[in-house]
Formats: sequence, structure tokens, C-alpha cells
Amino acid sequence: MRTQVGIVGAGPAGLMLSHLLHRHGISSVVLESRSREYVEHRVRAGVLEQGSVDLLRDTGLGARLDREGLRHEGIELRFDGESHRVAMTELTGRAITVYGQQEVVKDLIAARLAAGGTILFSAEATRLSGLESPSPVVHYRHEGRDEELHCDFVVGCDGFHGVSRSAVPDGVLHTYERTYPFAWLGVLAAAAPAVEELIYAHHERGFALYSMRSPEISRLYLQVPADEDIADWPDERIWAELRTRLETVPGWTLNEGPILEKAITPLRSFVVEPMQWQRLYLAGDAVHIVPPTGAKGMNLALADVALLGDAFAAWYADGRTDLLDDYSRTALRRVWRAQQFSWWMTSMLHRLDADDPYEAKLQSATLRYLTTSPAYATSLAENYVGLPLV
Ligand code: FAD
Ligand code: DHB
Repeated sequence: MRTQVGIVGAGPAGLMLSHLLHRHGISSVVLESRSREYVEHRVRAGVLEQGSVDLLRDTGLGARLDREGLRHEGIELRFDGESHRVAMTELTGRAITVYGQQEVVKDLIAARLAAGGTILFSAEATRLSGLESPSPVVHYRHEGRDEELHCDFVVGCDGFHGVSRSAVPDGVLHTYERTYPFAWLGVLAAAAPAVEELIYAHHERGFALYSMRSPEISRLYLQVPADEDIADWPDERIWAELRTRLETVPGWTLNEGPILEKAITPLRSFVVEPMQWQRLYLAGDAVHIVPPTGAKGMNLALADVALLGDAFAAWYADGRTDLLDDYSRTALRRVWRAQQFSWWMTSMLHRLDADDPYEAKLQSATLRYLTTSPAYATSLAENYVGLPLV
């Protein structure tokens, strides 16, 4: 098979890139190791920055998002038995929209297929070759056969565990990373959200987050030790812990309901530089991971491919190489801003070293400063709603 841009991975990055390229008249093929059913139902992130919403709308994907997405103009911080609202829209003029990642994925797949696009599901890329030549190849396995996708460029959008990154020779890439001694236990529950805005709660037993997906579905997270086993968390234990960490404000109670799904995700900060080598470009989780506290993962993936869409358009229309050459440098500016913000939110809100009371006092001082200083609150708000796409 031959195409102009070969894309590995049908997550938000790969699908959005294919959609943007199509709008510029550039052909692409997306290879995805999982089934369509699997990627459309994988529960992950839920917060879209204003810039991501604008990108979806501006490229014809706003209809269901505008109907079903929940626009939020603030978030709540809970700590030391108090609650405080950060009025994001008042402080920045912008807002976020709660819309599940799998809904973005469904909308993108539907748009690509309606436009005659090619997404091969259950097609696992096994290795890349010829990246130093004008005609690189993605080798993949589909329906029991070894196949080849020949293209002008390869874009690795295959997430942290993908194969694309490893195609770069040793010594070229630099890795920056940090692991955390805790993970998030996430649940999706058939319970009407008890609040309209997200609650980020700092508690002596650990962090908790109250989010939602719709007027009927809540999405909740608990900080747990990194090596925790989900089997040790029957539903009643999850609700009890959520009550302890979230019901800290007089008169406020959780709405409970059947738990539809639960899983534990490790927290990690990770960046690989540069985000390009020869004819291979890397985007999204394939090159950078943030801990989820700042809700940046999916937004960064979309921002990367917005740059790549324009860069390939300039190359195919006019032979311009400047945007492609600048891709890594430009994208990394946003990536590192999000790295710092996500690390900062994570450090401020999680229970860190239980044996270090000094750390806990610093966290309280930081949270209190946020509630008293509009300047500091504006810094949180402008990062959370997202700095404008470059
Ligand atoms: P992905 O969505 O990971 O897409 C990569 C795709 O590539 C996948 O579909 C994968 O199946 C495919 N693939 C991998 N290897 C191959 C191969 N060899 N051949 C073909 N296809 C391949 N962010 C938040 O902000 N909040 C959250 O609550 C949150 N929860 C998360 C939970 C989990 C378990 C994970 C892994 C991430 C979570 N994130 C969260 C992060 C956010 O979901 C990601 O940042 C986002 O998915 C990045 O999109 P992407 O397109 O780069 O990668
Ligand atoms: C959600 C996930 C996040 O990581 C976050 O910071 C806020 C909300 C969510 O899944 O709704």
C-alpha cells in the first residue's frame, strides 16, 4: 500500500492528524493495533482546553461536542476542610469543556470514514524502515499477513508503548523522566454528578478528583500507591474512600451509583527530544507523558498534530521545509509548559512523603496562596484552560 503520510496509532493524535491532512488534500493511512470497538470504548481523559474545542469546531467536528460537551467556567479546590472556586473564565476569558476522549475518538473515526479515509484496525506496526530515504516503510501485521505501507513521511502517534520511537538509532534521543510513587484509581459510575464543576481535593489520606461525563455519569479518581492491585478495591471500599476525601465540606455529599468501570493508571512525567528524526515525526504520548492532574495529555496530543498538519500542508503545497524543520522546537515549548504545570498540580495536590510534615505545610501554604491571590490563581487558570495554540 502507498500513501503520502503513514500514521501509526488511532488515538486522538493519529486520527486528528489524518483528518487535518485530508482537509489539505493530503492522503494518509492510519494503522491501529486494536479493534475499532476497543479504541472507541477506552475510557481515558475528559477535559478539552478551549484551543482543542476550537480546533475540533473549526475542522467540522463541533456538532456533537456542542450538544453533549459540558462547558465549565471554574474548578473547585478542596483542602483543610474548606472549598475554594478558581473562576477560570473570569480570570482568563476562556473555559474548558468536559467531553470524553473516547467521544473525540468516535467523532474523528466517523469523520474519516465518511470522507473515504483509510483506518486499518487490528493492524499492528511491527517496525519502520527507510526513514533516511524519501520513501520510508511501515511494516505491519494485518489479518495474519505481513504487509508494508510505503509513504513520504511516517508519523508515530502510537502512544507510550508504541514502536515508532524505538526506530530512532541509539544516541539520537534524550529522555527526561520522573516517576511518582502513586497511581490513580479511576472509576466511571452511573451516578448523577453531585456538582457542576470539577473538584480537586487535597486530603491527608491522598488526592481525590470529582469529574463527570454527562448529567447521568460521574468520573472519579483516587490517589493510591503505585503498586496497588485493583482486586483490593471492591466498590464499597472505593465509595468509602471517596466519601472520606471529598465529603469534607459541611452539608456536601456524594451521589453514588453502580460502578461501570475501574482501573489503575501509573503517574509519569516523560519527554523525549527531539520529536523528529529524518522522515519520522513523533506526536502525543509517543514522545511525552504528563501526570493527569493538569488534564493536559489529550490536549497536547491535539496541539502536536495541529502543528504537523500545517507543516505538511506547507511542504506539499509549496515545498516549504521550515515548518517541518521547526516542528520539534515549536512543539516542545508547549510540551514543557504542560510538563511544569502538570508536575506542579501533582505536587501541590497529592499526598507526598508521609514522613515529611514540612512538605504538607508547603502544600497548604500553596493552596492558601491560590485562594487569596488573584495573580497566582490566574496563573493556574491560564494554564488549565490552555495557552493559545501556536
Ligand atoms: P493514544 O491515545 O495512546 O493512542 C495511541 C494508539 O496507538 C492507541 O490506539 C494504540 O492502540 C495504538 N498503537 C500502539 N502501538 C501500536 C502499534 N505498534 N501499531 C499500531 N497501533 C499502535 N489524560 C488525562 O488528562 N486524564 C486522564 O484521566 C487520563 N487517563 C489516562 C488513562 C490511561 C490508561 C492512559 C494510557 C492515558 C490517560 N491519559 C489521561 C492520557 C491521555 O489519554 C493521552 O495523553 C492521550 O490518549 C494521548 O493520545 P495519543 O493519540 O497520543 O495516544
Ligand atoms: C478528568 C481527568 C483528569 O486528568 C483531570 O485532571 C480532570 C478530569 C476526567 O477524566 O474527567
